[in-house]
Amino acid sequence: MNSTIEQLKTKFQQALIAAFGTDFAEVDPMLVPASNPKFGDYQSNAALGLSKQLKQAPRAIAEKIIQHLKIEDICLTPEIAGPGFINLTIKPEYLEAQVNSIQTDPRVGISPSKNPQRVVVDFSSPNIAKEMHVGHLRSTIIGDCIARILEFKGEDVLRLNHVGDWGTQFGMLIAYLREVCPEALTTANAVDLGNLVEFYRKAKKRFDEDETFQETAREEVVKLQSGAEDSRRAWQLLCEQSRREFQVIYNLLDVKVTERGESFYNPLLPDVVEDLAKTGLLEEDAGAQCVFLEGFSNKEGQPLPLIVQKSGGGYNYATTDLAALRYRIFQDRAERIIYVTDAGQANHFAQVFQVAKRAGWIPDNVELVHVPFGLVLGEDNKKLKTRSGETVRLKDLLDEAIDRARADLESRLKDENRQESEEFIANVAQVIGISAVKYADLSQNRNSNYVFSFDKMLSLQGNTAPYLLYAYARIRSIGRKGNIDFEQLQKDAKVLLQEDEELVLAKHLLQLSEVLKNIEQDLLPNRLCEYLYELSKKFNKFYEECDVLKAEEPQRSSRLILCDITARTLKLGLSLLGIQVLERM
Ligand code: ARG
Repeated sequence: MNSTIEQLKTKFQQALIAAFGTDFAEVDPMLVPASNPKFGDYQSNAALGLSKQLKQAPRAIAEKIIQHLKIEDICLTPEIAGPGFINLTIKPEYLEAQVNSIQTDPRVGISPSKNPQRVVVDFSSPNIAKEMHVGHLRSTIIGDCIARILEFKGEDVLRLNHVGDWGTQFGMLIAYLREVCPEALTTANAVDLGNLVEFYRKAKKRFDEDETFQETAREEVVKLQSGAEDSRRAWQLLCEQSRREFQVIYNLLDVKVTERGESFYNPLLPDVVEDLAKTGLLEEDAGAQCVFLEGFSNKEGQPLPLIVQKSGGGYNYATTDLAALRYRIFQDRAERIIYVTDAGQANHFAQVFQVAKRAGWIPDNVELVHVPFGLVLGEDNKKLKTRSGETVRLKDLLDEAIDRARADLESRLKDENRQESEEFIANVAQVIGISAVKYADLSQNRNSNYVFSFDKMLSLQGNTAPYLLYAYARIRSIGRKGNIDFEQLQKDAKVLLQEDEELVLAKHLLQLSEVLKNIEQDLLPNRLCEYLYELSKKFNKFYEECDVLKAEEPQRSSRLILCDITARTLKLGLSLLGIQVLERM
């Protein structure tokens, strides 16, 4: 099924051709949802845009468009407003038909993409032996949400975890491991290294304090790169330990991502440099191999180089990304590659994309997108830190969210005099705690920084996960109270829209497909949060104004179906945010 707005767009295009000729076939009807319900449901600004070209007054153009606009089955008579806007109001009969057509559809009317695109989503991507910090949390949550939306749309998505598992820091780590735990390099048994972040800190301290150790660390890098068996083993040990720690977080967040770390591209790095040399882009600068960038300059105004091979022969983060790009395009056959990292890496990606394009490595059908996001701030508006000033451990942060959700729940149960099993309490607390953290992140425009506040995100009021989860559980409780068999109801009854609140709710229900379409383009998950928040508010308004279980037939059945579609839409929308619903809470 095409969304209403798509159908209207087609009708407008036909009217434009009928009114002004085939030259106008490509004109954008500039249809948008009306900013205010008093102007109807949709508005077209096409007439204003055409005024110059047609040398006519916009209102006259609007009149002509309307004369040719065949939308009687969708809309009431269009109205011209102000300088020449065309205002459209959807007919209740049309809405009814649309809502009835999605009644039993598990996809609530959203059709899957006709030609699935191969998409790589590069997200999460923490660094081995280093802290997985709140920046990685944002990347994990946003990246997972984007992947879920594209997967739902039917795209062929490859979720990739570009973990930092290679680089000079391993020299230091392995050298330190050799000192404190030599058996780790020789025995076949797994060795538990304990807290890796602590281990990294100690190794770094040792490195900073002792010059001979620095030399050993440098030799260790060379050994690792040349494939020395015990060095490889130590490296693997470190990676495995990190992997286990990351997996705890992924399990808690219910996130799936395939690891393909930097080391994977290692054998491909010399080719990147060689092939760049063939394109003539490569230049030597102070012994380093680099490409001078267009549009980037240093403080002195000189063009900035992107170094792909250091003077000592080592490669960079950027070299690996160039290799990864080629691999994703030519081996994975990606048509769209999405990178989810903090805004601080915007230049890095712009530079890598530029070099790859100038080298001719990016076919015309491939789109490269960096999806940046802002910082997570503490309530003091500074970068989020623990009270003692250290970076916040993700596991601690998620555990605290769950603990707080549990405390809130327990006091609510007490107030309501409810007895629930430990299993119920533990599950509800976990779902609410994790959802609250995810939703607080996703509901912000990702480009801005946001303030992390447990109190706000766990509140039952406002644009929060608990509010939406509660709205869902409440709708489900209506069905339970009335002992409703929704499957039977869908067979026997139809939706009838009479009251304003019913019309408003139905119109909103039908807008999800348009919202998702926009997100597929601009990759802004907060649009989905806004949609779901509005949906809950519109539902609550409907439920306040219209009797459901107490209504007479045929309204009773009709309204119950509206409840069910709302619940299913909420559940679907939340699942795309990576949020599980609760039937009771
Ligand atoms: N490991 C990097 C970091 O922690 C993020 C990697 C992002 N992906 C990429 N292809 N560069 O900052």
